[in-house]
Amino acid sequence: MAKVIVDLSVSLDGFVAGAGDGPANPLGDGGEALFAWYFDGETPIRAYEEAAARGVPVPPFRLSAVSAEVFSQLVETGGAVVTGRRTYDIANAWGGNGPVPGLPVFVLTHEAPATVPAGESRYTFVTDGIESAIAQARSAAGDGYVSLMGAAAAQQCLRLGLLDEIQLHVVPVLLGSGVRLFDHLGPAPVPLRKLRAVDAPGVTHLRYAVGPLG
Ligand SMILES: NC(=O)c1ccc[n+]([C@@H]2O[C@H](COP(=O)([O-])OP(=O)(O)OC[C@H]3O[C@@H](n4cnc5c(N)ncnc54)[C@H](OP(=O)(O)O)[C@@H]3O)[C@@H](O)[C@H]2O)c1
Repeated sequence: MAKVIVDLSVSLDGFVAGAGDGPANPLGDGGEALFAWYFDGETPIRAYEEAAARGVPVPPFRLSAVSAEVFSQLVETGGAVVTGRRTYDIANAWGGNGPVPGLPVFVLTHEAPATVPAGESRYTFVTDGIESAIAQARSAAGDGYVSLMGAAAAQQCLRLGLLDEIQLHVVPVLLGSGVRLFDHLGPAPVPLRKLRAVDAPGVTHLRYAVGPLG
């Protein structure tokens, strides 16, 4: 069965966006620092290069060699994306092309939008809850990972025991306020097992499995 991973860039104090995030300020005040590592090297990511060659307007990622290896692995093992509606709206629906080329996108929302930008991604708007979104994404993902975007989906999955792995790209900035990733988790501690720690220019990539030693 497809595993569920949350993969996000975070400040050292645990924010995935600064204060005042919205379509005009996608990562909030100071939050652009969280994505700098996607653009501070020379190494492109194959799936994005191929999408650009098809005429898809994808971000021009150029990473350090170390970060490119980490990010490429995520992209190549991806099977589906589950995102919250705020991320979808703030990203302007990624112009209809999803955050990862070729992957189906499941958007958690209380009300589907009237229209969706035309692009190459398949969007499914899930209005009956996180468990339904994860079940649908798992079945679409096959052997690939279901990747969560936005803090809300990750928090709900953690509370329900639906999250298998956490990959954080920890950026050396303290944002002080904004969208906190690990909020609203409930009273019980969540045990984690470190899978790897990779130090790269401008970012540290940490990957954990959720749950006690097996
Ligand atoms: N640092 C990174 O790597 C990274 C990556 C992605 C996003 N971000 C940032 O993260 C922020 C957004 O995260 P967020 O946690 O605030 O919002 P979010 O998870 O993107 O979206 C939350 C919204 O999704 C809908 N939703 C969530 N769970 C639902 C459920 N169970 N049933 C129905 N609808 C549900 C609701 O929207 P409605 O009620 O309106 O339908 C809710 O307000 C943005 O600033 C974005 O830029 C950062």
